[in-house]
Amino acid sequence: MTEIVPSLLSADFSILAEQVALMEEAGAKRLHFDVMDGHFVPNLTFGAPVVKSLRDKSSLHFEAHLMVTNPEELLEDFLKAGAETIIVHEEATNHLHGLLNEIKSGGAIAGVSLNPATPLYSVMEIADEWDFLLIMTVNPGFGGQKMIKSALQKVKKAKERIKRDNLLVEVDGGINLDTVRDASNVGTDLLVSGSAIFHSENPVQMFRDLTEKANSNMDS
Ligand code: DX5
Ligand code: ZN
Repeated sequence: MTEIVPSLLSADFSILAEQVALMEEAGAKRLHFDVMDGHFVPNLTFGAPVVKSLRDKSSLHFEAHLMVTNPEELLEDFLKAGAETIIVHEEATNHLHGLLNEIKSGGAIAGVSLNPATPLYSVMEIADEWDFLLIMTVNPGFGGQKMIKSALQKVKKAKERIKRDNLLVEVDGGINLDTVRDASNVGTDLLVSGSAIFHSENPVQMFRDLTEKANSNMDS
């Protein structure tokens, strides 16, 4: 089963709690928080207080995708805010091994993310340290970009090389009804979707359509 994970990046920020409730109603199990600092990526979004303010309004699993330089400085805040999976970029830290261990010590699931230009082998030496792999299929920073399909090969490679039941592989960027099959066909567990869901006329229906298409038996 491939799960669709709504990203709040494209939601209406003036009614965030309602947008979260809508996704719960649609059947979502997780929520993706895109944290951008204006340095690691050119865009700026929100920080741990937003995660914290939604925490007691939702029972969904919260995953924080930290697109920030010096993620070690924000870690404590996101742990305290109630993020259950914390994803850091390989490109954003010089001490990935240590950082992943800090995330786990803090009681969260440790995730690592790779930009489209970053090879899988950059994190293979420490494959035992992460339980969650986020493959970016756009250059991070903005919603609504076109999927870079070549990056999907990293999902295949990871699934071939790492045989652990608890490993989750997620794809992020450019998922819509036209691309969802390509992204699920390579064996992805989780597919992030922002603009396709929240910019559609009926986000609940779009969540369900994406879920159905991701799990349909067609080959293409
Ligand atoms: C991009 C973010 C994504 C974004 C995806 O930097 O990491 O999570 O929300 O947006 P769409 O689905 O619009 O490509
Ligand atoms: Zn993201």
